[in-house]
Amino acid sequence: MTDIFSPARLGELALANRVVMAPMTRDRAGPQDEPTEAMVEYYRQRAGAGLIITEGTQPSPAGKGYWRTPGIHEPVQVEGWRKVAEAVHGKGGRIVMQLMHVGRASVRANKAATAETVAPSAIPCPDPIPGPDGVPVPTEMPRALEAGEIPEVIAQYVEAARNAREAGIDGVELHCASGYLPMQFLSSNSNQRCDAYGGSAENRVRFVVETLSALARAIGPGRVGYRICPGVTFNGMADADPAETYATLLRGLDELGLAYCHLIHIPNAGFDSLDLVRANWSGPVIENCGLTLERAQVVLAEGKADAVSFGLPFIGNPDLVERFRKGVALAKADRGTFYTGHGDDARGYTDYPRMEDCK
Ligand SMILES: Cc1cc2nc3c(=O)[nH]c(=O)nc-3n(C[C@H](O)[C@H](O)[C@H](O)COP(=O)(O)O)c2cc1C
Repeated sequence: MTDIFSPARLGELALANRVVMAPMTRDRAGPQDEPTEAMVEYYRQRAGAGLIITEGTQPSPAGKGYWRTPGIHEPVQVEGWRKVAEAVHGKGGRIVMQLMHVGRASVRANKAATAETVAPSAIPCPDPIPGPDGVPVPTEMPRALEAGEIPEVIAQYVEAARNAREAGIDGVELHCASGYLPMQFLSSNSNQRCDAYGGSAENRVRFVVETLSALARAIGPGRVGYRICPGVTFNGMADADPAETYATLLRGLDELGLAYCHLIHIPNAGFDSLDLVRANWSGPVIENCGLTLERAQVVLAEGKADAVSFGLPFIGNPDLVERFRKGVALAKADRGTFYTGHGDDARGYTDYPRMEDCK
């Protein structure tokens, strides 16, 4: 029986336990989108996870859509991430960077003035997105990428992955969920292209398969994972047949030898996405979404996942794995400071106590 505290191997990534910290945007990067000392401390505190997946990190200026998200395309950002990687490795942890290109899910005021808003098709994201002051504002009409520009976007992801490795980060995860660029290609409503990247499921999955293939060639398949959430409607996603789209995608990725599939297993997809993954993908699986320790142990014991990821519980419990081991009650996270410390980056970020310091 597989236990949550037992070691695991996901491709080249050797995990001390099967508790993964899910990627979480916290909007605390510095003025050049670089990781700050507060971010170094935040990840250091959580290095007891078998694997940390960083917050969504833009591979290029155009990939940014939210306020104060970090990048991995400039030297100052690479140096900041180097400190994060060293801090996590110093505590015996492993860390993978989530590469997040938002595509059309972007607000102009949140990114560089020269950064374009691009997407598979010129169809805007219907959901507003918080601007610099946290108030949601409408997104911009995107420009549809020319077919000839797609290799450039893939090359930016590749360069970002090389930069992450140069910074000492152990691997990358391609964010293909939550209505961002890769998912905009996957979903039939946001991808109305008439070329080889649109139309049939085989064509709509092409961008993601090509990007993951390029990442695997650049840094080795065992250091590349991907995150999906079949059936999610966030950021205006409405695929006509997500079961078909994702079965096609998973089959297209299966032979690449990637490190893992990270599944956000939502209950209202209209089908069981974990069963779909298991039927079409033979590599390691990280399951996520609303898990408790008890539920996670069942999923692992049944062999349905190789590791499990936790988001919210890691915000308020930097020592989550130790609390799980000791059966200590979990602290609740303060939603008011998820994306801001209200002028103090440490607030609601690095100031959650470890259990021995709880009064
Ligand atoms: C504050 C916050 C920020 C998030 N940012 C990201 C992100 O950058 N990338 C991503 O893939 N998911 C993101 N998520 C989703 C989480 O990774 C996770 O899927 C979600 O919280 C469900 O897991 P949980 O029930 O264990 O919290 C975020 C969630 C929260 C609460």
